[in-house]
Amino acid sequence: MLKGIAADLNHCNTPARVLDFTGESELESSLKGVDVVVIPAGIPQKPGMTCDDLFNVNANIVRSLMEAVADNAPDAFIHIISNPVNSTVPVAAEVLKQKGVYDPRRLFGVTTLDVVRASTFVAQKKNLKLIDVSVPVIGGHAGITILPLLSKTRPSVTFTDGEVEELTVRIQNAGMELVEGKAGAGSATLSMAYAAARFVESSLRALDGDGDVYECSFVQSDLTELPFFASRVKLSRKGVEAMIPSDLQGLTDYEAKALEALKPELKACIEKGVSFVHKQT
Ligand code: LMR
Repeated sequence: MLKGIAADLNHCNTPARVLDFTGESELESSLKGVDVVVIPAGIPQKPGMTCDDLFNVNANIVRSLMEAVADNAPDAFIHIISNPVNSTVPVAAEVLKQKGVYDPRRLFGVTTLDVVRASTFVAQKKNLKLIDVSVPVIGGHAGITILPLLSKTRPSVTFTDGEVEELTVRIQNAGMELVEGKAGAGSATLSMAYAAARFVESSLRALDGDGDVYECSFVQSDLTELPFFASRVKLSRKGVEAMIPSDLQGLTDYEAKALEALKPELKACIEKGVSFVHKQT
């Protein structure tokens, strides 16, 4: 079946050539010489499933894939999509540390879908031309840990307090809206693929030497007291070239309060990922 999917993709008139690999025995050869590894593996959230249910399955999958990445593609950019990203990125970091190949500049939790959603919902609400709208989203990638900085929307827009509350909650709950709408058939797939493709393309541009690549991502960070935090980062050939501390300055009262409120939850998710790896060794 995978051969068919690879052939299907190879019919697209792009320079990309698609190869297929199946099963654990081909994992090593699939990773050799790779510049960007994208890990979307695992189960999606289903209605009624707790974050713990998701974590218990996906953390094991991410850990074993990361062992293979550490052994076979230690210099690659690593994009983690498997949820809960707030915990699986720390899992990945701990595995890389244990293998002695951790470079925090090259490990990314993919939060692009939050940015995509924020831009879409803001453009719709304010009747703006979508292509021009950009909203930084900071924090993490679940529920209240997702914090869109609406005050930093470009082009500059003003929102009523009611609009800020409505848009923030909609962006935070967008993933769950899909999980419930799909009624057990999974979570975001099409918009997630679109967002993941955007983040891969940005990474490839950075690897190619483009000096003007900025994306939000959940990365090791010193912007707050939390060891991992999503924010806008500048990408270069080496990975994260710089954080943008000014993004966290001049927040509105609403944003500053929401930032403080998300920290304990995000901290607990990060600690859960770290202790998962240490408990097993
Ligand atoms: C989302 O935000 O909806 C995604 O994280 C869903 C997923 O399962 O990747």
